[in-house]
Parts: sequence; C-alpha cells; structure tokens
Amino acid sequence: MKALVLSGGSGTRLRPFSYSMPKQLIPVTNKPVLEYALENIRDLGVTEIAVIVGDWAPQISEALGDGSRFGVRITYLRQDRPLGLAHCVALARPFLGEDDFVMYLGDNMLPTGITDIGAEFRGSRPAAQLVVHKVADPRAFGVAELDADGRVVALEEKPEHPRSDLALIGVYFFTSAIHEAVAAIAPSARGELEITDAIQWLVGQGARVRASEYTGYWKDTGQADDVLDCNRRMLAEITPRVAGDVDANSEIIGPVVIEEGARVVRSRIVGPVIIGADTVIEDCHIGPDVSIDRDCVLRSTRLADSIVMREASIIRVPGLHGSLIGRCASIGPSDHGASHSRLVVGDHTRVEVAA
Ligand code: G1P
Repeated sequence: MKALVLSGGSGTRLRPFSYSMPKQLIPVTNKPVLEYALENIRDLGVTEIAVIVGDWAPQISEALGDGSRFGVRITYLRQDRPLGLAHCVALARPFLGEDDFVMYLGDNMLPTGITDIGAEFRGSRPAAQLVVHKVADPRAFGVAELDADGRVVALEEKPEHPRSDLALIGVYFFTSAIHEAVAAIAPSARGELEITDAIQWLVGQGARVRASEYTGYWKDTGQADDVLDCNRRMLAEITPRVAGDVDANSEIIGPVVIEEGARVVRSRIVGPVIIGADTVIEDCHIGPDVSIDRDCVLRSTRLADSIVMREASIIRVPGLHGSLIGRCASIGPSDHGASHSRLVVGDHTRVEVAA
C-alpha cells in the first residue's frame, strides 16, 4: 500500500498565517500538523508516500525532507492550482500505479490513529473505505449515507440538507478502482474534481464502498480556534521532561516539557506546557495549555492557552490568552518608552485588546 498526502490549498481561513506559511505546517505542541499525518501513515506500515504540494512546496519540502527522519520515503508532486482532491489522485497516477493507497488530507488531525480502519480495508479490500465521524453540522463536509452493514449507499459534497450526520474526515482508502472513477467525473460547481463525486460514481457502478466510523478526537485545523483546540488536546498527552535550565526561583507545576538550552528564570509554569529549545522565559507566568517553540524570548508576561511560534518575543504583556503568535513576531513596549501603543500588523490580522 502507498499513501497520498494532500498539502496544497490556500488555507484562507487561517490568515494571516496562510500568507507566509502553509496551514499544514502550523505547529501543534511545536510539531507541524503534517508530521502527525505522516506518523499515522507510518503506523499503517506504509513507507512510500507522495505529498501533493502547491505554492508552498519549498517550505513543505524543507520541513519534511526526504522523509527519512520519519522512516518513510517522500516524493513531492506539484499541483499548480487547487483543482480538487480527485485531481490530486489523477496527478499521482504514475506514482500510485495499480497499488492500493490511503489518501490523507494534511490538515486533518486524528490523534488516536487509523490502524484499525487500515486493517479493516486490508482485510476486505472494498473499492473504497471511507473514514466518517459524527458531527453537529455536516453541511461543511462531504456526507455519507450508510446502510446497517456500513455499506455506503449515497454521498454528497457539502449538502444543504444532509441525509446523515456522518462527515467524511479526510482519510480515504482506495484500490486502483478509483482511477476509472476519477476519469469519469466532471468538475463540480466550485470548479473542482471532487473525490466525493468519484466515490459516488463507484457506488453508482455497484462497487463495494464502505465506511468506518472514527470515534476518537478529530479536527480539521482550518481555523485558529481549531488549532488551539488541537494544541490543548495534544498537550494533554505530553510526557514531562526538563532538559533545559530552571532556576531556584521558578516553580514548575503539572506536566511540563522544557527542551534543551531553554532557560526559565523567576517564573511559574503551570502545565501542560511545552517550551522549545533555546527559549528564554523570565519573570513570567505561563500556562496552562501553552506551547512555545524554539528561540523565543518571553519576559514579564502572563500567557495561557496559546501557541507561540519560533523566534517570537513577548515582553511585558500581562494577560495573553487564546493567542496564536507567528514566527519572529514581536510584542512589547516601544524601545524609547512611549506611553502610547503602536501596531505594525499584517493583512487580515486580528488583535483583540482587553476592555
Ligand atoms: C474536503 C472534502 C470533504 C471532506 C473535508 C474534510 O473538503 O471535499 O468531503 O469532508 O475535506 O476536511 P474541503 O476541505 O476541500 O472543502
């Protein structure tokens, strides 16, 4: 079995981050979302992986390399425009050959893994095995209608009146039967070749299409609040480890990871918290539910429920909460002691100030 990981797309709901980085590289507990996908695929025993990339190809290949760090082999395939998930399958046809494969959307988090569903697919090899999850509002997703045996009887992409509450959640297992289906469909109203339409075509041809319900935690990390939610979920699993320096005037409470070279001075850290390598924390109150990446500086700041990306600095901000701070961002007083506030804020940035 091979794997196809989709990591193109523009991620406009994650502005301003999507102006400077692909949403799949947003860090959750200091690790890009895409790495969680690769780990789940590797846990299926799959090592041949094609990653579909768009304009962010250089950043993605820099982050993942040839895959050897994860014990897999990565081939990068370029999609010039986001023409749909089924278009990605067509693009990867030479890589996939006649092999079975798992298609995985690189911005989806399924931390309890997909090995059970992979085993189910391998056991009976239906033309397609979909992963579905009960959601409160299925209208934003592909929706599957199943019979009592888990056989898919109908599928619809983003229906106005969903016929079930089972959303497709970004992981699909296929045999090579999908290629004929992809070749048979036409672009949807949004101008994309929809994988949902290709699977519906298989259903229409009488092919065996099954769905398995994933009951664990799932998130499509499309928006800032989803990313923070994922971060909280993954922080709950960290194994405490202090490799950096914590001075005698600091207090560490609960599960905390402090990476090599990090320094914590006169601060109170309330886990779960992860502090990246070579980051400096002085006179701060950090946590709970915070991840701070490497090479950051935080001084005289209180921070909870937030993600701080690498090389950011936050100085003298007394009450930050629910924040997503980008790489190399700098927040703090002016160098020359001005009494007013001054903002240099990028397009589509959101700054919410305390009332
Ligand atoms: C895509 C699929 C949709 C699926 C969703 C999961 O939607 O077309 O069927 O439910 O991913 O994240 P998109 O994110 O392209 O709108």
